[in-house]
Amino acid sequence: MLSPSEQTAIAPSLVTTKRITLSVESPDPAIIAEAAEVLRRGGLVAFPTETVYGLGADALNADAVKKVFVAKGRPADNPLIVHLAGFEKLEEYVDEIPPLAVTLARAFWPGPLTLVMKRSILVSDVISAGLDTVAVRVPNHSVALALLREFGEGIVAPSANLSGRPSPTTAQHVESDLGGRIEMILDVGSTAIGVESTVLDVTQDPPAILRLGGLTKEEIEEVAGPVVIASQNDLLRRSPGTRYRHYAPKARVFLIKEEDVDSYRLTLRDLRQQHLRVGCIVHSALLANVESGDLIRVLPSSPKLMAKHLFSTIRELDEHAEVLVIEEVEELGLGRAIMDRLKKAAN
Ligand code: TXA
Ligand code: MG
Repeated sequence: MLSPSEQTAIAPSLVTTKRITLSVESPDPAIIAEAAEVLRRGGLVAFPTETVYGLGADALNADAVKKVFVAKGRPADNPLIVHLAGFEKLEEYVDEIPPLAVTLARAFWPGPLTLVMKRSILVSDVISAGLDTVAVRVPNHSVALALLREFGEGIVAPSANLSGRPSPTTAQHVESDLGGRIEMILDVGSTAIGVESTVLDVTQDPPAILRLGGLTKEEIEEVAGPVVIASQNDLLRRSPGTRYRHYAPKARVFLIKEEDVDSYRLTLRDLRQQHLRVGCIVHSALLANVESGDLIRVLPSSPKLMAKHLFSTIRELDEHAEVLVIEEVEELGLGRAIMDRLKKAAN
């Protein structure tokens, strides 16, 4: 248990959160300059990337980085991703750049691929949570890139949610979780991909996927040859943060396969008999036909569109339902990242 003085020490300080709307096509340079100034003063700015919204802080200011952990309620042993404006900045933050990292960066940056490599002395222990590596990526978003260029240095950015909540895909999600705890939110509406970046450890051969995400295993393998998906044991050693509960709605979550229509019906009947409010997220025409009601959401069956809408749908139904019944997807391509999030939500 923390003593009262320790609790005050880790309580986020209350600030006024300024939410500013800007255009993806041509982000207003004056707003970008204002956001960069907040970062220079050691403040926190949430900004959109192509995956989810990130909570940004100056990577070279350890006090600012600590504020990120406090604002999110994030355990200190869960390391952060450093975002860069381009490949050219990489050698400042990374000590050894394996040839394969160069190939992958050329193929997929800017984009939803995070590479784990040996860290340079610029990267503090706070960022890497004491590991000898650092995770880096170049996001593919006009606002994120404009901010990174204007700021000039690396920006650490975990997903801009309270620790344990689904990642934010709109500025509204960020405000609900972090309003009053961060200085600024740059609002462009919904993010394009909807699940976080794929985290790939390239310090080993073959490289290991530490987190499935927006870039598929198949896409990586076309460029890099075979990669492995890290086992649970591996993860505990190399990516300590993954042991924490992620993507957790308040509601209990049940997963149902498309072919299990009978068990779907029984589960629903059983839950309703217990007078529980049940929300359903389905994507096959089959399941959509089985039930109707105001807590039913039918997602598009293309994995791309499903990923885009997944977290916002879970957040929305979680406001009204005590139990969520969610239809599984095939674990292929982007479906692997979707199932990874669903299994964690159901855990
Ligand atoms: O798409 C994304 O990656 C978003 C946007 C904002 O860029 N960011 C994001 O950050 O999802 P976060 O903090 O929510 O997730 C970072 C993941 C965690 O699973 C963490 O354990 C892993 O990256 N990670 C960070 N540094 C690492 C390192 N040095 N070694 C292994 N894993 C690392
Ligand atoms: Mg996160």
